[in-house]
Amino acid sequence: MEEIAMIGARRMLSFCFRAIIFCNVVYIVYYLFSGRKTVINENYSRYTDERYLVNTPGCIIENIEVYSPEIKKLLYKVDPISCTDKPHLAYTTEVGGKTLLSLNTTAFSAYSYLTIECCYKKVERNPTGPKPDDNLIFSECIPFTETVEINVEVIKVKCSTAFLTVYENVYAIFKPPREVPNKNYPNVLLIGIDGVSASNFIRTMPKTHDLLKASGWVNLKGYNKVEDNTFPNVIAVIAGAKFSYHEGYFSDKCNPYDSNKLESCNFLWKTFKKANYTTALGEDTPKIGTFNSNKAGFVAAPTDYYFRPYFIVADQLPAKYLCLKSYCTGPEKTGNRMLNLITGFLSAIDNRTPGFGLFWMNTFSHEDVNCPSSMDDEFVIFFKKLVRKGYMENSIIIFFSDHGFRFGKIRLTPTGWVEERLPFIYIWIPEKFRKSHAEEYKNLVKNTEKLTSNYDLYMTLQHVLALSSANFHEQPADGCSGCRSLFRSIPSERTCSEAGIPEHYCTCSKYETIDKNTPNSRKLAEFFLEQLNSKIRSYGHAAEGCASFSLEGIAHVKRLVVRPGLEENYLIRVVTNPEANFEATVKVTYDVKETMLLKEINRLDRYAPTSYCANGDVRMYCYCKSVLKKITNIFCNNKYCFI
Ligand SMILES: *[C@@H]1O[C@H](CO)[C@@H](O)[C@H](O)[C@H]1NC(C)=O
Ligand SMILES: *[C@@H]1O[C@H](CO)[C@@H](O)[C@H](O)[C@H]1NC(C)=O
Ligand SMILES: *[C@@H]1O[C@H](CO)[C@@H](O)[C@H](O)[C@H]1NC(C)=O
Ligand SMILES: [Zn+2]
Repeated sequence: MEEIAMIGARRMLSFCFRAIIFCNVVYIVYYLFSGRKTVINENYSRYTDERYLVNTPGCIIENIEVYSPEIKKLLYKVDPISCTDKPHLAYTTEVGGKTLLSLNTTAFSAYSYLTIECCYKKVERNPTGPKPDDNLIFSECIPFTETVEINVEVIKVKCSTAFLTVYENVYAIFKPPREVPNKNYPNVLLIGIDGVSASNFIRTMPKTHDLLKASGWVNLKGYNKVEDNTFPNVIAVIAGAKFSYHEGYFSDKCNPYDSNKLESCNFLWKTFKKANYTTALGEDTPKIGTFNSNKAGFVAAPTDYYFRPYFIVADQLPAKYLCLKSYCTGPEKTGNRMLNLITGFLSAIDNRTPGFGLFWMNTFSHEDVNCPSSMDDEFVIFFKKLVRKGYMENSIIIFFSDHGFRFGKIRLTPTGWVEERLPFIYIWIPEKFRKSHAEEYKNLVKNTEKLTSNYDLYMTLQHVLALSSANFHEQPADGCSGCRSLFRSIPSERTCSEAGIPEHYCTCSKYETIDKNTPNSRKLAEFFLEQLNSKIRSYGHAAEGCASFSLEGIAHVKRLVVRPGLEENYLIRVVTNPEANFEATVKVTYDVKETMLLKEINRLDRYAPTSYCANGDVRMYCYCKSVLKKITNIFCNNKYCFI
């Protein structure tokens, strides 16, 4: 029997909503019973003893205290949970370019004294159906008792007694690529953890941080994000493309709402593929995939190894939740699945072709600012393994995030504002490369003290290819024509706009706090909300379930003089009714008459539970009328809700 899994967007949304309520309950119970374990590593009061992260004529970024008092209150350690205490029943091995699937029959007794029978399903993408990225074809479940050879990329194994399923897991199979003449080009690996600021990396992953610091990784101190959330910050790195929510702008070639157009985007994996690299792409949370959440996803698999099917199947296994996410999918930590895929990839291509890969993780970082601590030990093990296996000797590794934590209590603090804009980023350059490209390496080290952005990273990775191959020529980044490889000297005069960073996200800017209780502040706030409401309405049908916001209160107003007497930016944060937190920049110009213009907007509370009625990007502004109604009925008097 053939079983076709089609995940309709609506079903998925309603599922997500139910899952979110479920997870919230699980989380609250967990939270009550686990207690706040305030185990803080006080040894890092600052990154360094220096006063500035960047101190150049074009940009000054003051050093931020990693343990500032306002942040300290919000910290607790999240201990890892164990996914299983039993051995795996099935495992794969590589023998002479073949992948074999075997059973560990001696482990059966750990599961049941009854007879256990196992079978596996082959899993493949269905590129001819709608939404191929969500559309999988499962074969029938093929029984096996002996070792069998596997020829597909993903299989799902299930073992049962006569009464119940005792073991389920998903396995990725790496068919090794054919050897190429330029196999000694360096691997280029982008390993990302979503939503972790430079400071939060030190706070939550101190052991990993210590390891990187002690072993010669290069830390970019002035790396400033270019947009709000994951997609635009990732696409700037891997395609040099600009995507602006505020301007409604995206590079036409990279239209993320149209599967066929996303194929024409200048992704680095295509560039590297042309140079004989084997490519890989994986994200551990398929429901909020960078190219899939409110986006169209891919038609053909974008890379040689594409782990989306693997993670969709993993996501369907029984889960253990931590920090509102599936920390365990089946018997494995979801984050560890990714780390194992990275080493699996490196092993498959070793001595055959160079590799390029983007590996993106969300499961232990996206929902709770303290949760990365639950994976600190695993990352230490992972990086040590890379060293032990010799992979570091020929791999350039970017270990980084896209932005800091974007919502919740931490984001309402002044430190949280800065942290949101400064994601962590550490770069590994192999010794061999440092010697053969000494000048370039020296520039990289100098640039750690400069203002840098995502687009520089795009240029840097192309430069890696240019340094290996005389035939390759770098293309400027669409989103920032003046951005440049970090292996070249970055001018000290550089400003945010020259680095492709909008004023709203620029940490070089010095704002002055002004009185929020003046008629002028009120006017700015009213303007902001009126514009926000009309922005929501401009999404039409997709936003028809969304409530209009009215002003409940002003949290702060900050001023930045852009051109004295002519132009000012106001950074303004408001609380609305229905209750949400928003921040935006309102630009005021005084050229002929006073003109106000709403720039970038951020939603600062967790919007997923209240925005499920909307479709697409408008979700981040939406508060569903239906939620309001439900809450009003049970918990509200005419104005305030007690939930
Ligand atoms: C802080 O540093 C001291 C001395 O270097 C060390 O003994 C201690 O274990 C460190 N504390 C933590 C929490 O890492
Ligand atoms: C099989 O299971 C046994 C007992 O649980 C364990 O000791 C052994 O390491 C496992 N073998 C493999 C190949 O995983
Ligand atoms: C890629 O491989 C092909 C054949 O295997 C070879 O002709 C070509 O020169 C290689 N490209 C590079 C950039 O080395
Ligand atoms: Zn993100």
